[in-house]
Amino acid sequence: MSENLAPSTAAGTAAAGTAAPRPVPAPARARREPMFPDGPAPDPAGSHHERRIRSFQPRRSRVTPGQAEALRRLWPTWGLDVDGLRRLDLGELFGDPALPVVLEIGFGMGEATAEMAAADPGTGILACDVHTPGQGNLLGLAEQRGLTNVRVANGDAIILLREMLAPDALAGIRVFFPDPWPKKRHHKRRLIQPEFLALAATRLAPGAVLHCATDWEPYAEQMLEVLSASPDFENTQPDGGYAPRPDFRPLTRFEGQGLDKGHVVHDLMFRRRG
Ligand SMILES: C[S@@+](CC[C@H](N)C(=O)[O-])C[C@H]1O[C@@H](n2cnc3c(N)ncnc32)[C@H](O)[C@@H]1O
Repeated sequence: MSENLAPSTAAGTAAAGTAAPRPVPAPARARREPMFPDGPAPDPAGSHHERRIRSFQPRRSRVTPGQAEALRRLWPTWGLDVDGLRRLDLGELFGDPALPVVLEIGFGMGEATAEMAAADPGTGILACDVHTPGQGNLLGLAEQRGLTNVRVANGDAIILLREMLAPDALAGIRVFFPDPWPKKRHHKRRLIQPEFLALAATRLAPGAVLHCATDWEPYAEQMLEVLSASPDFENTQPDGGYAPRPDFRPLTRFEGQGLDKGHVVHDLMFRRRG
């Protein structure tokens, strides 16, 4: 019998008449228990066991009833856990072996992702984030707009790239407004680092573009520095600088917040050498 069946103990104590029954605490929710039985698993690859610096902060954000409903109903069809246990066949995943697929790392609440998917149905977007409310939000937006070219991946994009995507599989990678980790002692958590670029380059097809954008000037400078130094990438800009903002990139939620603070936004578009 489970130790959680504490009421019998309390009842037994009361019956003995020695003390008033003490309130029985609700059984603690297991740390790894999924919030949604058929939805995204918490920490699907168990990455907290890995000795690796992560680029995201595990957050416990409230999931709205609408997001929860979208997760319950739509996750089994459009979602996938980044468990690091299998190699994805992107043609099969998107139901079209000829569809070029772009990986978006860190889509947040997914408004810009849905916008880009609607504007370009000829491209599949594999949208990866660890943020459960955003996953529900994007699923809901995709359904509302009748999008069939978005798949929502739950987990660490590093594991997705390293373990689950084949070499040359991607037609592009988008990293829009990654967490800036402004404190010096946190700079090591920034996603755009030489090791990330080396991994990303192997998963991009030759000639495919890694597109980053940030409103955090020191991070933009770091991005430009490490991308320019990478032997695997070349700048799409002949002057070796930032790219003009492309029309297809909608204003993102974090970008709006940065602009409200007077930040300047930089885009960086680097092509995989091939
Ligand atoms: C600052 S937010 C930007 C969200 C969105 N792109 C925007 O511009 O509104 C960065 C997002 O990246 C996600 N993220 C950071 N590192 C990640 C990783 N390794 N894998 C997946 N998502 C990651 C965070 O959870 C967060 O939602």
